[in-house]
Amino acid sequence: MFEYYIENLEILKENSHFRNIKNFSGKDEKYIYFNNKKLINLSSNNYLGFADNKQITEEFLEFAGDKYSFGSASARLLTGTLPVYKELEKLISDLFHKESTLLFNSGYHANVGINSSLTSKGDVIFSDKLNHASIIDGMRLSESKFFRYPHNNMQALEKLLIRERKNFKNAVIVSESVFSMDGDIADIQKLVELKEKYNCMLILDEAHAFGVFGQNGLGVTETLGLTDKIDLIIGTFGKSIASMGAFATGNKPMIDYLINKARSFIFSTALPPVNIAFSKWIIENKLPYTFNKRMNMLKIGQKAGSQSHIIPLIIGENKEAVDICEILYNNGYFTLPIRPPTVPEGTSRIRISLTTEINEKELFDAISLAKQGR
Ligand SMILES: Cc1ncc(COP(=O)(O)O)c(C=O)c1O
Repeated sequence: MFEYYIENLEILKENSHFRNIKNFSGKDEKYIYFNNKKLINLSSNNYLGFADNKQITEEFLEFAGDKYSFGSASARLLTGTLPVYKELEKLISDLFHKESTLLFNSGYHANVGINSSLTSKGDVIFSDKLNHASIIDGMRLSESKFFRYPHNNMQALEKLLIRERKNFKNAVIVSESVFSMDGDIADIQKLVELKEKYNCMLILDEAHAFGVFGQNGLGVTETLGLTDKIDLIIGTFGKSIASMGAFATGNKPMIDYLINKARSFIFSTALPPVNIAFSKWIIENKLPYTFNKRMNMLKIGQKAGSQSHIIPLIIGENKEAVDICEILYNNGYFTLPIRPPTVPEGTSRIRISLTTEINEKELFDAISLAKQGR
């Protein structure tokens, strides 16, 4: 029986697909410590440098004292809802000017729960081909039919809508705003136009944009002034906010429906109160003062040819991507090769993600090292 696993792991190794968990000895805002080396971390979602920041930890602990416990010991619908959960939900609703918000334990929980439950038999979901695995997994669990349109191809999406929309009752279009592996941005204006024209709901996952884009860090929809046009906005707290968890914000019937139907919400213990309090504290006390740093980070990303702070260096073959990471490692940079199935076959890459702590010189030195390695 175990031979099956051993053989398949061998195949993964032969194709440079094998994944293993690395043991880091430490991290701070900019560096990661590995094998007794101090490396600039170009693979973190710690976009605002809030994670592993001693001063922030100390400030929070001083604020929090012993007010919040380290375990909720219950799902939200049982005994797992204390005031701080509702306060964070209200804060998000107020920021986005939405009627209601629901917290999830992670972005993965949010996307699986939402995409599996908002539509059912006789309904349809139209999803960008490069949407995150959690969106795909949610759709797979849904009883509705789903179609994946070519990445960011609005013409192809419209063709699909013309052909298929009439065959279904309810329809949802789902997309990321900043795409996690490519760093490009969805054509949100066009998605809004299409959702209105073809009577669909629009769900937008701002996981990588929440905390980065917009005057108040709400995401790309804030930059574009389109927040009110999106039926459900998802954001996560595990990246810019340096915490854990996620939210979905929208109108009250949709949120009430999720409370009743999203199984990843219903059947899982709520996050610890201290964690919810930390997310809320960061959003209220730290995020508002990041505008200049965030804009500078985005400017550096744009100089490197990206639309965002995520810069993909597309390499192609798995082995070559692994080798280039090794070169970067030997020169003081930590990066990771991103390989199928996370990205399409033949597009293995090094995904550089900027944080506000990384400067232009460090980025461009890393890029030129990667180019020399090819
Ligand atoms: C677009 C997108 N959505 C959702 C998630 C999952 O979020 P979390 O890490 O909070 O589960 C990710 C994670 O990397 C992501 O890239």
